Amino acid sequence: MRKLIKNNVSWVGYIDWELESFHGDELSTYNGSSQNAYLIEEEKTVLIDTVWTPHRFDFVENLKQEVDLNKIDFIVANHGECDHSGSLTALMELIPDTPIYCTANAVKSIEGQYGKRGWNFHVVKTGDSVDIGNGKKLIFVEMRMLHWPDSMATFMTGDNILFSNDAFGQHFAVGELWADKADQCTLWKEAIKYYANILSPFSGVLSKKLKEIAGLGLTFEIIAPSHGAIWREDPMQIVRKYAEWCEAYQEDQVTIVYDTMWEGTAKIAHQIAAEVAKQSPKTVVKVFNIAKSDKNDVATEVFKSRAVAVGSPTVVNSILSSVAGWLEMIKQLKFKGKKAAAFGCYGWSGEGVKVLQERLADAGFEVIEENVRSLWNPEEADFAQIPALVRSLVGTPEEEEVKEENNGMKKYECDPCGYVYDPAVGDPDNGIAPGTAFEDLPDDWCCPVCGVGKDMFKEV
Ligand code: FEO
Repeated sequence: MRKLIKNNVSWVGYIDWELESFHGDELSTYNGSSQNAYLIEEEKTVLIDTVWTPHRFDFVENLKQEVDLNKIDFIVANHGECDHSGSLTALMELIPDTPIYCTANAVKSIEGQYGKRGWNFHVVKTGDSVDIGNGKKLIFVEMRMLHWPDSMATFMTGDNILFSNDAFGQHFAVGELWADKADQCTLWKEAIKYYANILSPFSGVLSKKLKEIAGLGLTFEIIAPSHGAIWREDPMQIVRKYAEWCEAYQEDQVTIVYDTMWEGTAKIAHQIAAEVAKQSPKTVVKVFNIAKSDKNDVATEVFKSRAVAVGSPTVVNSILSSVAGWLEMIKQLKFKGKKAAAFGCYGWSGEGVKVLQERLADAGFEVIEENVRSLWNPEEADFAQIPALVRSLVGTPEEEEVKEENNGMKKYECDPCGYVYDPAVGDPDNGIAPGTAFEDLPDDWCCPVCGVGKDMFKEV
C-alpha cells in the first residue's frame, strides 16, 4: 500500500517490524527497520530503489496494485546493497528493458550480486540530471563511501525532496513514516546508533560531502532516507547532527567496558567508575560487561564518550575473546579523539593489560600509561592506582576548569547551512584552536561548511 509523501511522490517500501538484526547478525535492530522505496508519478514515472530480496515478490505485487509496471519510465538505484536492490530480479523479469539509473560502481555491485542480465543501465555522476516533466527534474549526487563506493543520493527539484538512501537513516520501524510522528527518544537513539555503527568509519568523507552538498545551494523540504523515519519538520536537523557526529564527536561521558572470569576485573571496573564519579561529578559514567551487553549499543556509548577504560583478565597470554572481538569491531568504526586506559587481573604471565593497550592504540585511541594490573584479586595497592588513572583519563581539575570556561562561551549557528561553531571544539581544520570564542574569530573566518562570513551567524 502506498503512502503519500508529497504531491505526486509516494512511499512504496516495506516496514520490517520484526527485523532483529541487520548485515547478518552484525548489527542489532531492536526497533525493527524499513526499506523505503519511492514512486514518483510526474509526466515521467520513476521508481526510487526497491526492497530487500526476501520481500521481493510482495514488493512487486504491491507495486502492481499501485501502478501499471509498464508505465515506469526508469528506476533509480541509489545503492546496490541487496536491501535496496534485492527486488530488481523479480521486477526486471516483468519490465526487462526499463532503464536503471545508477553510478558506475552500482553497475558492478548489482551485476556482481545478480549476474550480468543485460539490464539497461544508465551510468550517472554528480550533477547529472533527468527531466521528469511538470517542470521538475532529478539531480544525482554521488555519495561514494557513504557507505559503499556505489552509493548516491537523488534530489527532486520542485518538491525539494532528497532521496538520501542510507545517509540520514535509522533502523526503526515507523508506521506513520514521519520522524515528527515517531517516538523522539527512540528516533534519536536509533539515529546515533546507526551513525556510530555504520557511517562512523567514513566521517572524514562525510564531512567533505556535507560541505559539497551545502555548496550546491539546494533547499531540502524533505529528506527521505532508505531506512526508518522520513524528515519533513526542519529536515536539516539530521544534517546538523551529522555535521556534529562526523567531527570527532564526544560528550562528557566515560564508558567502562570489561569482561571477567572470577570477578576481579569486574571489581576494578566498578572502582574506576566510582572514581570518575568522584573526580568529575558532571561526567556521565556507564559500565558494561561486554559478554552480557549488546556490542552495537556499547559501541554507540563509546562513540558518545570522551574516554574509555577497557578491562580483561589475562587468558593464555592474551585477553578474553569477548573483549578481543568487540575491540576488532571498535577498530573498524575509526572513532577519533578519545582517550583509553586498560586494566585487568592475572594469575600467571599477565600480558592482558599490554595486549589491551596495543589493541586500543591500534583502534585509534590515545592510550594513557596509567593502568591497573592486578595479581590474582585486586587489593588496596591495586585500587590505589585508580585515582591517577582516572585523573589522566578525565583531566586534572585545572583542565576541567578550562573546559568549564569553554562551556561558558556561546555557540553560534550559521543561518544558511545550520553549521554550529562550538568554541570548545574550535575549527582546527582552519587554524582555530579549541577554546576560541566566536567573538575572537578573525574577521575573515568563514563557515567551514558553506563559506559565508561571520555576519551570517546567530547565537544559539
Ligand atoms: Fe541500506 Fe547499504 O544498504
